Amino acid sequence: MRAGDIAGRLIYHVINTLIPCHRFAAMKDHYYFDNAATSWPKPEVVYTTMDQFYRNYGVNPGRAGHELAVEAEKMIEETRRLLGLFFDYHGDPHRVVFTQNATDSLNIAFFGLLQSGDHVVTTRLEHNSVLRPLAHLKRDGGVDVTYVARDAQGYVDPDDIRSAITDKTRMIVVNHASNVLGAVQDLEAIGQISRQAGTLFVIDSCQSAGVLPIRMDAWGIDVVTFTGHKSLFGPMGIGGMIVREGLDVRPLRVGGTGVDSIDPYQPEKYPYHLEAGTVALPGIAGLNAAQKWFASLGREQAGDTEGSLSHTEACHAALGHIFELERGHIDRMLAAFRDIDGVKIYGPAGNRLRVATLSINVGELPADQVGVMLDADYHVCVRAGLHCAPLVHEDEGTVAQNGAVRLSPGYFTDDEDLDQIIEAVGEIASFASAA
Ligand SMILES: Cc1ncc(COP(=O)(O)O)c(C=O)c1O
Repeated sequence: MRAGDIAGRLIYHVINTLIPCHRFAAMKDHYYFDNAATSWPKPEVVYTTMDQFYRNYGVNPGRAGHELAVEAEKMIEETRRLLGLFFDYHGDPHRVVFTQNATDSLNIAFFGLLQSGDHVVTTRLEHNSVLRPLAHLKRDGGVDVTYVARDAQGYVDPDDIRSAITDKTRMIVVNHASNVLGAVQDLEAIGQISRQAGTLFVIDSCQSAGVLPIRMDAWGIDVVTFTGHKSLFGPMGIGGMIVREGLDVRPLRVGGTGVDSIDPYQPEKYPYHLEAGTVALPGIAGLNAAQKWFASLGREQAGDTEGSLSHTEACHAALGHIFELERGHIDRMLAAFRDIDGVKIYGPAGNRLRVATLSINVGELPADQVGVMLDADYHVCVRAGLHCAPLVHEDEGTVAQNGAVRLSPGYFTDDEDLDQIIEAVGEIASFASAA
């Protein structure tokens, strides 16, 4: 922080201490706007199920045939089935593989599917969990990568993906929703292009799974990668990938699986082919509870008292409700911020499809300074910085400002949270213009 900034902050604090202001009547300890990093809180049933399941069945599944292990295994199998259906995947549930998180899944997909001489088409919107493994494969593995540009609002033209394909292209990798701008890509159109070109289509669903329907089968997606702890409402440390039947991914890790132990090599059978070592049972129990929470919310929203909707349909009804609610939060924030002098808003304008992730800057203040002010002075939790998506910041010209301030409301955001963030950004903008 520069000396001028520190002096400015001091004056600001003195003024705020001397002049009583209604934000001191704040009712909450924290106003959480960092759901793009991880959703918080979770539905209550996620916490209670994790606790109860781990107390009652917290044993190593698949390694023993006793009753407790069988119960644990049943729950895991059910979760594979539910997650497959959630992503509108109707193949073998054993192709739903558990990993640590999306980063892990993406690494498995890239290192397990690509080889020297292959070409990959991706976008300038990607997270480092895509960019870095590809950069390593480019530098050390003879893989060529094209980064397709996007428009000023964050949307990739599927025709630009088509134009980037060469006869060496093995894979198209696309982030469904940008974790900085919120823009949502047209996976259906890109999937069609991928099918026509005969390339593999891998998606990063981190910012959309749990908010927007993803139709793995219908959109021709070969590998869906997901993380459990964001809008899927699971805990941290669990993620996964769905690998379409017929596609073989070389394992990145090999080891114990509890099956075919005499075989010196990793079993060919899924999920064991890609799941070496003990799985994160409490995390899977959390995801299981979250899946049932989605289905029951969807049934409630659709008035399906008989339980006649399928898991996919019920979850899609829930997603419609969650999306509308979060869209309302973003619309309210956007409307307020547009009226505040000095607030620069990045990303989609108008009614284009977006998720509830909104990045801004305030005057010339470094993004991290705004993040600290929001936290220290208003108890508003946001993420400020480059958000692991450096190319987005290069394109927006925000690297010199230390990135942007990302505000991500979620399903549990309420009016009090929104009032607080709008007031806080307004006051910081006044401070910035006076500084
Ligand atoms: C778009 C996107 N992709 C990938 C990731 C990586 O997720 P995880 O850290 O859970 O592996 C994130 C997380 O911030 C993300 O936003």
